[in-house]
Amino acid sequence: MKILCIGAGYVGGPTMAMIARKCPQHEITVVDINQARIDAWESDSLPIYEPGLDEVVRECRGRNLFFSTDIDANIAAADIIFVSVNTPTKTYGQGAGKAADLQYWEKTARQILEHSAHDKIVVEKSTLPVRTAAAMQRILDSGSGGVHFEVLSNPEFLAEGTAISDLESPDRVLIGGHQTEPGQKAVQCLVDIYAEWVPPDRILTTNVWSSELSKLAANAFLAQRVSSINSLSALCEATEADVTEVARAIGMDSRIGSKFLNAGVGFGGSCFKKDILNLVYLCESYGLNEVADYWRQVVTINDYQQDRFVGQMISRMFNTVAGKRIALFGFAFKADTGDTRESPAIRVARQLVEEQAEVVITDPQALDNARRDLADIADVIQFEEDPYKAAASAHAIAVMTEWPCYETLDFDRIHSLMVKPAFLFDGRNHLNHVALHTKGFNVYPIGKAPLTHLG
Ligand SMILES: NC(=O)c1ccc[n+]([C@@H]2O[C@H](COP(=O)([O-])OP(=O)(O)OC[C@H]3O[C@@H](n4cnc5c(N)ncnc54)[C@H](O)[C@@H]3O)[C@@H](O)[C@H]2O)c1
Repeated sequence: MKILCIGAGYVGGPTMAMIARKCPQHEITVVDINQARIDAWESDSLPIYEPGLDEVVRECRGRNLFFSTDIDANIAAADIIFVSVNTPTKTYGQGAGKAADLQYWEKTARQILEHSAHDKIVVEKSTLPVRTAAAMQRILDSGSGGVHFEVLSNPEFLAEGTAISDLESPDRVLIGGHQTEPGQKAVQCLVDIYAEWVPPDRILTTNVWSSELSKLAANAFLAQRVSSINSLSALCEATEADVTEVARAIGMDSRIGSKFLNAGVGFGGSCFKKDILNLVYLCESYGLNEVADYWRQVVTINDYQQDRFVGQMISRMFNTVAGKRIALFGFAFKADTGDTRESPAIRVARQLVEEQAEVVITDPQALDNARRDLADIADVIQFEEDPYKAAASAHAIAVMTEWPCYETLDFDRIHSLMVKPAFLFDGRNHLNHVALHTKGFNVYPIGKAPLTHLG
């Protein structure tokens, strides 16, 4: 079978590479409008950093995995088309700031229609508002060529940083299809692909609308846990409770579970905020205002946590950071990715610059993206690969990303390079606070008592 994926991003690339590895009998092509991205997928320097991805791509590229910008010809040849183009939040018109911008989706649907001469299965891989499949089906059915298109929903649940292991061994694969004979035949076709390596009890089939909604709901639930523990971190700081201890105590309740309960400076990534706002908009458009308000609060708390972090830095550093060098350790929204989309570090860096701090950013993978995110203020920011150089002459370090490499830094040396008193704000509760305190740092974690020498 010829399988095509439109969109060679964080989802399209790794997902198709895994299908290529597991299904050598199928020919898989990934296309994109972005020539530079396709060139990078063809090169030794892939466009995204993801542990284990290089190996899978190297194994399959040129065998049964191909990258191309020739979208039209590949649509014509394909039997199954996955669509994983981006679905950003709308920035204009009705629903601006909340609704999904579906212009890329609609363009893709029309392009598929124009270049198809035989029946195809079209799979929604992108995260979409509920009932988008209906819109797509209507566009595809508007043609006069007698070609039948069956639209399926197959949302992707991979997490950046662990994409390859998530794809190799997913908690579940979700496939939504219509309850018609051709619909169920198409579902079976996709089930057969995943069944090459995913156990049958982990392949769930539902109706299309449940599948679309489940992806939004899963991200909303995950983000809600982060905001819930972060809201409690503020209360812990006020009451001398320790958020790590609280998280452990509640996480041991098997009904709650221990994952996703790490307090920090807030969630980031391209999906959580976008998908919750999308859910909010969806609820509002069905007149479910109370439900919309409930989910909106998850984003409000996330913004609050970032503002609170900067407020804490200012108040602890004697109510001013103007002229002080502050080193942000990490800029990626989480470890093991170079992705900085919606990273809390963006908001924190901007607020510190507004406060006239001298911001220096270091990150093992994300400096190029950081430069792009802060392009409008890049002339007043330093970007530094070496964390020791970043810390030299700094008044404070703010840990923004839980990179494992930060745990093994020589903090005696870092302390000796910094202006005293040396401050360390750990926005990820990632480092050994007692050890840092012993080395002379004034340490401010999230949701627990500070360890200081300042009296
Ligand atoms: N990033 C994640 O961790 C993740 C996880 C699960 C689901 N998702 C969802 O998957 C979708 C894609 O996310 P992503 O992170 O891969 O986005 P991305 O921005 O990294 O990639 C999207 C790609 O689509 C391309 N594109 C846009 N319009 C196109 C067109 N008309 N024809 C061909 N290519 C086109 C872009 O050039 C880009 O390379 C989104 O809906 C997202 O919500 C993302």
